[in-house]
Amino acid sequence: MPQQRDHWNSNIGFVLAATGSAIGLGNLWKFPFITWENNGGAFVLVYLVCIAAVGLPIMMAELLIGRRGQKSAVGALKDAAGPAWGLVGGWGVTCGFILLSYYTVIAGWSLYYFARTMEWSFSGFPAGLATGDVFTGQVGNAGLQLALSLGFSLGTVAVVYFGVSKGIERIARTFLPILFGILILLLVSALGMSGSGEALRFIFRPSFAELEADSVLEALGHSFFTLSLGMGAMITYGSYIARHHSIVKASAMIVALDTLIALIATVIMFSVIFSVAGMSEQVGGSTVGMLFISLPELFYSEVPFGVLLGPLFYVLVALAALTSTISLLEVVVSYVIDEHGVARHRATIGSGIAVFVFTIFAALSFTDTPFLSTLAVFANKTGWFETADHFVSNWMLPTGGFAITIAAGWIMSRKATESELLDGNQPDWFNYGVWRFFIRFVAPAAVAAIIIAVLFGVDFS
Ligand code: PHE
Repeated sequence: MPQQRDHWNSNIGFVLAATGSAIGLGNLWKFPFITWENNGGAFVLVYLVCIAAVGLPIMMAELLIGRRGQKSAVGALKDAAGPAWGLVGGWGVTCGFILLSYYTVIAGWSLYYFARTMEWSFSGFPAGLATGDVFTGQVGNAGLQLALSLGFSLGTVAVVYFGVSKGIERIARTFLPILFGILILLLVSALGMSGSGEALRFIFRPSFAELEADSVLEALGHSFFTLSLGMGAMITYGSYIARHHSIVKASAMIVALDTLIALIATVIMFSVIFSVAGMSEQVGGSTVGMLFISLPELFYSEVPFGVLLGPLFYVLVALAALTSTISLLEVVVSYVIDEHGVARHRATIGSGIAVFVFTIFAALSFTDTPFLSTLAVFANKTGWFETADHFVSNWMLPTGGFAITIAAGWIMSRKATESELLDGNQPDWFNYGVWRFFIRFVAPAAVAAIIIAVLFGVDFS
């Protein structure tokens, strides 16, 4: 007998779970950093246009393909567009697998920083401690890296093990309100700092003279990553939606919340950075620098109530990352369940172990492990981690996203997509013709531009 398919218990539970997938390290780690690199204002505006013109239509497309098929990414794409499209689903599952393998490592760092900031909050931040050394010390410690990423993987597996309504939805309903609460506390504290005015001007006052062509493509590439698009995560979550929930409303909520949180996180980080003389020159160096090197120390010297907010900030990072890793694992697990008939418990444990093998490589990418550095893959120390991030951000998400626009805009019939989007509960502002125009022309053209740019050597990772 086929297993009864699990569904979201409530519309709000689904919206929170999907928002949890979208909000993650992309919002807290990548977005502030690329906004910094691209000189703020104009870049942020371009990003907002990409989110609305490409991200939102593709979000609706993925959710509708999932709900229509009531199957994992592979099965749902086959049903929607034909047997060969199962390959696009398989591409997505592979992408989820790879992305999860290294995402877990950064997520694990948030656990380490939570422990360290707790220690500093209780016994005081040691005078003269260089946070850059703290960071290199922890990433270079193989045992610690393995323990942290194992801990995070176990947490992810534990949630997915209990299924969609009892695991994923329950965690999202509990954790997302906590996440929003922590973020508001941090925002209030940051807005009171002397650098907040400069931060707001940097983020919201566009200066097009500083915008480069590459920035436009980077903004577009990041919209896929941050909205969890292009690899079937939203198809998978869509496959658990009941018929009477409006896909249009849910998509608008998810996209709006994800964008809002990315902007708030950026305001918080820049307010802190601009409050300290000389800090803005130091930040630029690396993607991880802002989150794990500059900020920890500033909680103890600059941020009002930093003793409390420091550890809370890393709880925020960990929760945001967890609600994303569970969606990544669910893409793989739902595929194993639907296409291979394996029961959820076994599928979850098996997939968790398989992904963890690759997480080991990612976790050791920064360490100088004598045995591993003899292997060719680790010859450059950032090995699997950098290669995987480069490949996923530059190649897999954009190509997967492109295929999805073709499936929804050109292969599926107008009647099929129309009946999913105009399901009787759609909001008044929604116009199906406009969506169809965007999914057929605007989104694929924009994504094709990214792919061509990548071919000519632009790097989004
Ligand atoms: N959207 C997540 C983030 O911003 C990353 C992610 C991508 C999660 C794709 C699931 C699927 O961190």
